[in-house]
Amino acid sequence: MKKALISGITGQDGSYLAELLHGKGYGVYGIVRRVALEDQANRMNRLAHLSDKIRLIPGCLETYPSLYKIFNQVQPDEIYHLAAQSYVSYSFEDEFSTLNTNINGTHFMLSAFKDLAPSAKFYFAASSEMFGKVHEVPQNESTPFHPRSAYGISKVAGFDLTRNYREAYGLFAVNGILYNHESERRGFEFVTRKISSHVAMIKYGLRDRLELGNLDAKRDWGHSKDYVRAMWMMLQQEKPDDFVICSEETHTVREFCERAFSIAGLDYRNYVVSKPEFYRPAEVDILLGNCSKAKKILGWRPEIGFDMLIEMMVKSDLERFKSK
Ligand code: GDD
Repeated sequence: MKKALISGITGQDGSYLAELLHGKGYGVYGIVRRVALEDQANRMNRLAHLSDKIRLIPGCLETYPSLYKIFNQVQPDEIYHLAAQSYVSYSFEDEFSTLNTNINGTHFMLSAFKDLAPSAKFYFAASSEMFGKVHEVPQNESTPFHPRSAYGISKVAGFDLTRNYREAYGLFAVNGILYNHESERRGFEFVTRKISSHVAMIKYGLRDRLELGNLDAKRDWGHSKDYVRAMWMMLQQEKPDDFVICSEETHTVREFCERAFSIAGLDYRNYVVSKPEFYRPAEVDILLGNCSKAKKILGWRPEIGFDMLIEMMVKSDLERFKSK
């Protein structure tokens, strides 16, 4: 039985990836902070249905000895490094911890991989935020990076570390440059879930408005379930390489609002207000990817488009908030 080790298993992508790998017959191991194990009801909700099918190991990404023990114990065949401080907005409030966790965490993971499981395959969750103030539209694997936040900078560092471990030590280490991917399991602080949850709360009279920041920002949005499949496909290749994964469509936050509210029979213009305090000091105005390389080499294609994604998220939140 192949063994997969996932950091960030309690998050949206980690939970879908754990499901996918378990379904493929892998032994699935997740690194989780001890605090998550101690507060299972809240922090493990995305994994509740998998709890007897996967193994969770307490560990800390911020120290090498902790990872050393885990790698020694698990001896993984595939490593998916998803854990990070992943909220861009928060990275402006706390640049230091974002850089510390994201860069050192990736470095320690790569180092443990090299020392203890060098014949395994390693996936790093890079990000379209690395393109930041984009140099071209659409972006592909050759587009230069120009990050606009400590988060984006930390992902560029992780990308370079991963590529360098591949080139310097001949390891199978790849970067997935994933564009925004959402789902019914998305955290409530991200804009799509903030919108879908507010649509439901407004519908049931639990809220009367939705305060957002920049409604004109454009993002290339897909569904997490499609994107974790791409992660796995990257590790099934003969040769390690980096891939852009995206929907090849871009939409404004405003368009997302318009469609989400209309599913509940509401007009977003009556409820959405744009507030300066939700603007970022430096914004990424437009993200639009070109994933022809992934289509050609991996044979990957997204199955859930923009409209279906919004419908799934809003319907799920309408159900969730019905009885509140
Ligand atoms: N979160 C949030 N909250 N975003 C808002 C709001 C708001 O109230 N109002 C407008 N926005 C805009 C942001 O300014 C941004 O332009 C856009 O909505 C999307 O914001 P997020 O959903 O927070 O995602 P993100 O694009 O910053 O980052 C996500 O995608 C990256 C890949 O491109 C995260 O998942 C990152 O971890 C990921 O790497």
